[in-house]
Amino acid sequence: MRNWTASILAIALASCATTQPVVAPLSDAVQETGQARENAVVADLIARMSLEHKIGQLIQPQINSFTAADMAQYRFGSYLNGGNGGPYGDELAPASEWLRLADEMWEASTQPLPNGEPVIPTMWGTDAVHGHTNVVGATIFPHNIALGATHDPALVRLIGAATATEIEITGIDWNFSPTVAVARDDRWGRTYESYSEDPALVAQMGAALVEGLQGKSGNDDFLGNGRVIATAKHFFGDGGTAQGVDQGDVNGDIDALKSIHAVPYPAAIGAGVQAVMASFNSINGTKMHGNKALLTDYLRGDLGFEGLVVGDWNGHAQIAGCTTVNCPQALLAGLDIYMVPDDWKGLTENLIAQVNDGTIPMARVDEAVGRVLRVKYRIGLLDADAKKPSERANAGRYDKLGFAPHRAVAREAVAKSQVILKNDGVLPLQAGANVLVAGTAADDIAQAAGGWTLTWQGGGELTNADFPGATSIWAGIEAAAQESGGTATLSPDGSFDVAPDVAIVVFGERPYAEFAGDQKDMVFRDEEGLRLLRKFQAEGIPAVAVFLSGRPLWMNREINAADAFVASWLPGSEGAGVADILFGAKEATGRLSFSWPAGCFGAPVNGPEGALFPVGYGHATSEAAPLAPLAEECSLLDVTASADYFVSGRVAPGVFAVGGREGVDPTSDSVFEQFRGANERLGVSMRGIDRNAQEDAREVTMNAGSAFGIGAVVDPGGSYRIVYDIPKPPTGKVSLIMATGPNEVVGEMDITQQLTHAAEKGWREMIVTDQCVDKLGGAVIFFSEEAFVMRIASVRREVLPEGTACSF
Ligand code: BGC
Ligand code: BGC
Repeated sequence: MRNWTASILAIALASCATTQPVVAPLSDAVQETGQARENAVVADLIARMSLEHKIGQLIQPQINSFTAADMAQYRFGSYLNGGNGGPYGDELAPASEWLRLADEMWEASTQPLPNGEPVIPTMWGTDAVHGHTNVVGATIFPHNIALGATHDPALVRLIGAATATEIEITGIDWNFSPTVAVARDDRWGRTYESYSEDPALVAQMGAALVEGLQGKSGNDDFLGNGRVIATAKHFFGDGGTAQGVDQGDVNGDIDALKSIHAVPYPAAIGAGVQAVMASFNSINGTKMHGNKALLTDYLRGDLGFEGLVVGDWNGHAQIAGCTTVNCPQALLAGLDIYMVPDDWKGLTENLIAQVNDGTIPMARVDEAVGRVLRVKYRIGLLDADAKKPSERANAGRYDKLGFAPHRAVAREAVAKSQVILKNDGVLPLQAGANVLVAGTAADDIAQAAGGWTLTWQGGGELTNADFPGATSIWAGIEAAAQESGGTATLSPDGSFDVAPDVAIVVFGERPYAEFAGDQKDMVFRDEEGLRLLRKFQAEGIPAVAVFLSGRPLWMNREINAADAFVASWLPGSEGAGVADILFGAKEATGRLSFSWPAGCFGAPVNGPEGALFPVGYGHATSEAAPLAPLAEECSLLDVTASADYFVSGRVAPGVFAVGGREGVDPTSDSVFEQFRGANERLGVSMRGIDRNAQEDAREVTMNAGSAFGIGAVVDPGGSYRIVYDIPKPPTGKVSLIMATGPNEVVGEMDITQQLTHAAEKGWREMIVTDQCVDKLGGAVIFFSEEAFVMRIASVRREVLPEGTACSF
């Protein structure tokens, strides 16, 4: 090893000539090999870094909040795209744009620094939680809850490897996956990100995904070509919050909590996972981002984790006494990287000041920076011949995005995850049968893919055209029916001219992510599927229910009305895997990884007690599995009056959005469930916007001559209090209308002037009492003659003192 350093420099200089910047030039001090070399490289780099650039390594902003110039100046150690973020502001940007941005940021991060300061390439993290699904055209694998039902870690390993390849195509280094939450309360909106309620199964599947993404620890390809950094998240307790409230509180004996919720971590660490993401939840009153006993003493000490700890989306700001820009507590507790999507500048400045004034010891900064650098070292970012993203393995191989072999793995995962809960003999479907396929979900790939698909929440405005190369459940059934010598007809509303031999009803939950999916109970209130199943039952047509959902729900009514019932979960882009089971091309081997609730109640079921079907339940297709009628009583179906129609981004049960055109003919539309999505027919679209918190408000865009409103099944009475914002004055008449039913207008008022006055003044409150409309009705509706945008943060009903005037 004559002059090792000299040879490194020679390579670096040679590549300089070919416009390759010098990466992490090493000082003479580093002459070691193996682990000693990793230690020496990291120590050497830290010794030569400025405080500013050390802090830069600990800051992770999101792509749409900084520029390449910011990257060159601040040298962020990493950055992310959020679920709603795409390169250059385009969520649906082609893969080549993702790679272009990766190169641009890498180049900005490797501009030479003065005074011999080492250059540390940045890295990009993304949520490829069921395939590289932020990118159009990627293979969309079933969500984790479905993979749990396959009980097949080898398959999950293949999914990890395929996902890593698709991530590499776009030049991204790091995946925020697997979620190893042990969901214990299925009311939680992230239940589908959990493999199982059984910690041992989660541990097995999580470790398998880590190995697929990173390669097997000890193997030559570990963190090599075709591999990306994995993240076990969210540490820990995310699946154990009270009432299943996202980001909520986890309480109880700490050892008992660890014995459920921390179980997957030793397995992931054993598999070599390089990153752990801190959770939003608290444990016994202390938010995890600020929990030194658990983040440092337990994770680092007891569990021996040596990779980096990344925070969650502004998770540090939830620590008592912290804000997004000011939070030494998190670093002191053991967080290494702050995920600070937008407020990176203020946080950077404060951290630097806090090191300078002694609030944060330099030793802690060096330790955190060291952990980031170690991961970079292991993934090869600090190699002397490290390449920019577009020159790495698989980069730009767009032919491998949605690659046929990857889709084959996804289709297999779909087939293996279908769980047959009931089958009175109608399955497998007869060859040559004439099949009617009903339900609006049947040909809706976005619905089958669920949340974290192209957008954060998924669904909404996405159409099948956004999923090139994908196969809807309907398309899969059509192909299988034809292949068997039969026919298939798509009829979303279940109508037909010629009676079919059998009907398949595809229905289920509409996409959601994180807290937007939290529920107060286990009841599924959308009755489209139920109506169709009962219709076929009445017509004497055998019907198969294919239920799309992110969790088990109380389904007794639907199960009774169906001849066969299949829990299909969120299968993703390869819908043909569903037909593989229905038509018997493959034997059904999927078995529940979650207990299925027997009754209509809110409390969680984890185990046989209270379960209709326990973990492990499911039937082979060839096996008849009839079921005696189940109890259908459910007091929770009678929605009680809620005065909070829409508050903090949450829509109360029994509250619905209405829209209409041409005068007021309000139609309730399930497209607007959760107040998201667009409805061309009604001329209205809604999207989540941030007022005080993520997507806690909605922006409603109305076409000329359309109406939008909110009503409730049970009218709680009282006046309306609406927090709203008018970005631009109306250009035509806007009216406020009270309606108790379609065409039942009970009050009307021209509010053009009021809204013109309110425009461009920010958020304000509107109070509507019986002083300005004849009668306060079930739905409050805004009708605009011209195209108009209004934002709504909350709608409440409230009893106000008699005679209270209206105000805007
Ligand atoms: C989620 C994480 C995710 C992160 C980045 C957070 O809101 O909780 O799971 O990795 O955002 O998108
Ligand atoms: C998600 C991000 C998403 C953002 C939207 C976060 O909680 O994890 O990925 O883009 O919210 O506001």
